[in-house]
Amino acid sequence: MKVLHVVGARPNFMKAAPVYRAIARSGHEQTLVHTGQHYDALMSDVFFEALEIPAPDESLNVGSGSHAQQTAAIMSRFEPVLLAHRPDIVLVYGDVNSTVAAALVCSKLGVRIAHVEAGLRSFDRTMPEEINRLLTDQLADMLFTPSSDGDENLVREGIAKEKIFLVGNVMIDTLIRFLPKAEQLFPELKEKLSLSGYGLVTLHRPSNVDDAATFLPMLKVLSEISLQLPLIFPVHPRTSQRWAAELKQAGSGLSVIEPLGYLEFLALQKHARVVITDSGGIQEETTYLGTPCLTLRENTERPITITHGTNQLIGRDWEKLRKGVRAALNDDRARKTPPPLWDGMAAERIAAILSQSVRQ
Ligand code: UD1
Repeated sequence: MKVLHVVGARPNFMKAAPVYRAIARSGHEQTLVHTGQHYDALMSDVFFEALEIPAPDESLNVGSGSHAQQTAAIMSRFEPVLLAHRPDIVLVYGDVNSTVAAALVCSKLGVRIAHVEAGLRSFDRTMPEEINRLLTDQLADMLFTPSSDGDENLVREGIAKEKIFLVGNVMIDTLIRFLPKAEQLFPELKEKLSLSGYGLVTLHRPSNVDDAATFLPMLKVLSEISLQLPLIFPVHPRTSQRWAAELKQAGSGLSVIEPLGYLEFLALQKHARVVITDSGGIQEETTYLGTPCLTLRENTERPITITHGTNQLIGRDWEKLRKGVRAALNDDRARKTPPPLWDGMAAERIAAILSQSVRQ
């Protein structure tokens, strides 16, 4: 079997890494395509290195643009690559523009598509990722879900049950594999960033960082919190480009730094007193690690991180945020059981199902 993987943005890399490794062990031929949606070294190269992913066989170098420009550029550059490689199946990951763009190209050329991390829904169609999820799942031939809510969403949308496979969370496969290595880095990191008790912040969603009326009050309340609990804020390029001056003037307890590598960020998540974020993947990682997570969004496509994990939706309720931080500081961090199948074996299950599907 010839398998082609498409990755493009930072959160794709930790999902594709274990799947690539598991399929390699099954002996199938593999091609890795990087769309170039994320291109800065700190958003891309450092992840390939840390996650031990081989260099891409094909780089589409699409770069940034409006949604239409970026999606269209991926489609037109991916089509000839797909035609040249003629894979039996294309694996797409998560919910970024690269995911839906590649799926559309495959579906028009009649190439089978497998979607890893299928079925997640925020039910908020103002999120670009929700549109990407809905469309990719409609186009996919095999849908690998991380949790049973994903299966329920897909069945409700009319996807045939035979196409859906509950395999668990591939991002947690990566976390389990690399946590010991991340832990080794922590003492040095602690010294470099002069850490004792600290919180960790990430913000990059357009709905939070694009408008002054939303972002500036958020920054103000974070600065205020940082007087009680120092906050480390590795800033996504989208946020740093827009708010360079404001971030420079943020309170002294708020350390604004460049994006971190996978291992460094994982170590910081593990040891943080609390994580404040609008990311999807971080809600899952903190759930696994048992670190309290306060999500600055009104909804989540990962409800299992609330029912089984440490996540709490804060929206823009600053009193709730302050309360959440206070509660986290008093938390004894009793380790909860991770959600079912978040056990480090999700990619193995995917590889086994793919191998089985060729034999049929
Ligand atoms: C994308 C995903 C989002 C994911 C996030 C993780 C979509 C619709 N969004 O958002 O789901 O959570 O990645 O990081 O696919 N930029 C750089 N260097 C880079 C990449 C981006 O400077 O390497 C800047 C550019 O100004 C660019 C902006 O960030 O215009 C946004 O990049 P883009 O890929 O459009 O979306 P993200 O916000 O990164």
